[in-house]
Amino acid sequence: DDAFDEQCDYLFKAVLIGDSGVGKTNLISRFAKDEFRLDSKPTIGVEFAYRNIKVMEKLIKAQIWDTAGQERFRAITSSYYRGALGAMLVYDITKRATFVNVRKWLHELREFGGDDMVVVLVGNKCDLVQSREVEKEEGKGYAETERLCFMETSALQNQNVEEAFIEMITKIH
Ligand code: GTP
Repeated sequence: DDAFDEQCDYLFKAVLIGDSGVGKTNLISRFAKDEFRLDSKPTIGVEFAYRNIKVMEKLIKAQIWDTAGQERFRAITSSYYRGALGAMLVYDITKRATFVNVRKWLHELREFGGDDMVVVLVGNKCDLVQSREVEKEEGKGYAETERLCFMETSALQNQNVEEAFIEMITKIH
């Protein structure tokens, strides 16, 4: 709200990237509005969400950018990354191909993103235990090699979503 905006210590821009269908839009809506949709449509172009949050005694306005995972729906890449201090690189633990593509996303991020951007690798849909194709240790190991933070989340069950965003915001400081 307005009162909060006036008192805000920082405005942080963060972006979500990753293949289509991994759950980027639902992670954002869970964090910003505590909402989840089973029937969400692919994102076209770019969308935003905001959430005001207090982290380590600072009032932060988090501006979260959501873009299409599908190439044909993507907007101009350089403007998407411009000014972003944090990024969440999301894959789906039930689809190995989305984990394999993390390398490609990281490449794009390093090309267009700022040098000291905080990156959290997120393995989403950890509620789908029966269909798991990527072990947690594998995600964690890859994150360590690439010096990224790591978290497994479920936007559906609201597991670790808040934690993943807070981890990113905290590391930005
Ligand atoms: P694009 O906009 O195409 O890039 O996709 P996206 O990454 O934004 O994925 P989206 O949030 O639209 O979710 C895709 C599908 O996965 C939807 O049917 C969601 O309901 C479902 N989904 C998202 N997160 C979870 C989760 O944590 N668990 C489960 N079981 N399903 C999820």
